[in-house]
Amino acid sequence: MNMSLGKLSPRITSMIHMDHSHVLALSRRYHPDTSPDKKLALVTNACLALEIHAQLEEEIFYPALRAATGADPVLDKSVPEHNEMRQLISRLRHLEPEDAAYDSTFMDLMRVVLHHVADEETTLLPQAERMLGNQLRELGQQMTKRRLQLLRPHAVEVAKTTVQSFPIASAITAVTALLFGSLLMKGLIPSDSLIERPTRRLTRLTRSLRRLPT
Ligand SMILES: [Fe+2]
Ligand SMILES: [Fe+2]
Repeated sequence: MNMSLGKLSPRITSMIHMDHSHVLALSRRYHPDTSPDKKLALVTNACLALEIHAQLEEEIFYPALRAATGADPVLDKSVPEHNEMRQLISRLRHLEPEDAAYDSTFMDLMRVVLHHVADEETTLLPQAERMLGNQLRELGQQMTKRRLQLLRPHAVEVAKTTVQSFPIASAITAVTALLFGSLLMKGLIPSDSLIERPTRRLTRLTRSLRRLPT
């Protein structure tokens, strides 16, 4: 790897936190009385972001962590949880926003996502910070390259649904976040400024879980 780029690249753990934040921000904008067009934009954007995020973790993050830690119960259930998300995403794509099951299916998806994110942020990411120290930025660079490959065929859809999902200033930030690797690598965005303090973040996660209708 090019060492100077490697030093400037954000840590993979920071990138994972940012992806989680993006999906959680989308879920907070979804309400039962949201218009069908906006529901569709929010769900389209969230599903695509989740699919790409899961693939990046499975190709780059989980193997690196497994090589460092060996068997781990939280890591072992990560891919099955991604597959549960994929099933719910597929179900959502066969529904219309006006369908009675649309809201409950999206809430089911977010319930799985929130539990999964809580496990990653309380267990896997701190483990990675401890055990992958010197590799974190190199892995971040690999993730950025792969993300851009995976996003390229969906660039128009991502830009359109992000603008429909957020107020314009936030949408610009969100599109930037999805493509953030290159900007962070150029030092235009300080990566640490985009990550909430862990305790504040866990409080928000817990509140989000409580707010989901049963
Ligand atoms: Fe994740
Ligand atoms: Fe994950």
